[in-house]
Amino acid sequence: GKVRAPTHIISTISDDRGEEPCYAGVPMSTIVEKGMGVGDVISLLWFKRSLPRYCTQFIEICVMLCADHGPCVSGAHNTIVTARAGKDLVSSLVSGLLTIGPRFGGAIDDAARYFKDAYERKLSPYEFVEGMKKQGIRVPGIGHRIKRGDNRDKRVELLQLFARTHFPSTKYMEYAVEVETYTLSKANNLVMNVDGAIGTLFLDLLVGSGMFTKPEIDEIVSIGYLNGLFVLARSIGLIGHTFDQKRLKQPLYRHPWEDVLYTK
Ligand code: ACO
Ligand code: LMR
Repeated sequence: GKVRAPTHIISTISDDRGEEPCYAGVPMSTIVEKGMGVGDVISLLWFKRSLPRYCTQFIEICVMLCADHGPCVSGAHNTIVTARAGKDLVSSLVSGLLTIGPRFGGAIDDAARYFKDAYERKLSPYEFVEGMKKQGIRVPGIGHRIKRGDNRDKRVELLQLFARTHFPSTKYMEYAVEVETYTLSKANNLVMNVDGAIGTLFLDLLVGSGMFTKPEIDEIVSIGYLNGLFVLARSIGLIGHTFDQKRLKQPLYRHPWEDVLYTK
């Protein structure tokens, strides 16, 4: 009989062997003819399925809202310094991307993990937040350097509005709102941030869309797909910052002595 030579790679998301490349079985011509967008492409390549329009629209809104946040944030700062050191586009981009992590932009997966666990264990906001404090862990998705209870993050409000209008359920996000009410009673900077909004709303999308089984949802949360949304989105802005610095012919950046506390 036929003997199948063992392969070194297994791949399940795309295939370029036919007349045209396919994403999760969908030919590129179909993607173009049906007027699909980047949200559909993300659905196919990350989740290996076509998602309903409101889901792909939500993904696209996340990408648009997280594309940039000015030159002062960690990622843009690194990119700007790198571009001004004369480095190329890819180096400048990855230098910015490398700052994405638990404090900056990369708290989405942990927000989904911790809020899902707390919701499912039916913890009150007090029990959840104080339990985290006892463990010495900051609540992912809560807190911001410049946003406050009286100066909310517009991105969070826009995502909430979209989801409350289009999602069948927003139970995880509403739980995060209750948690935020508690954290705001402790300090004015402990608002729900964009990572918290995306993390909890994506749980609502995964559960409410009916497109994923429970083991699939658990796998998505445990592998950690959702920081990918911020990485993808912010790449748009970081590329823009690189071009901006090059266009402006900015010289090598050197941090001013006056802004460093030299101490023994
Ligand atoms: N949970 C519990 N307590 C918190 C949290 C939190 N998420 N964030 C801040 N605090 C507490 C701090 O412990 C601190 O109290 P302490 O000095 O008694 O320890 C107090 O609030 C003040 O906090 P700062 O350290 O001044 O806050 P800072 O401005 O440095 O931190 C940050 C901002 C990094 C976003 C922080 O809130 C945090 O770690 N949040 C969780 C991670 C997260 O969600 N990051 C994504 C941010 S959004 C984005 O990057 C796009
Ligand atoms: C961002 O999206 O980069 C911001 O929320 C971070 C910040 O500190 O402003």
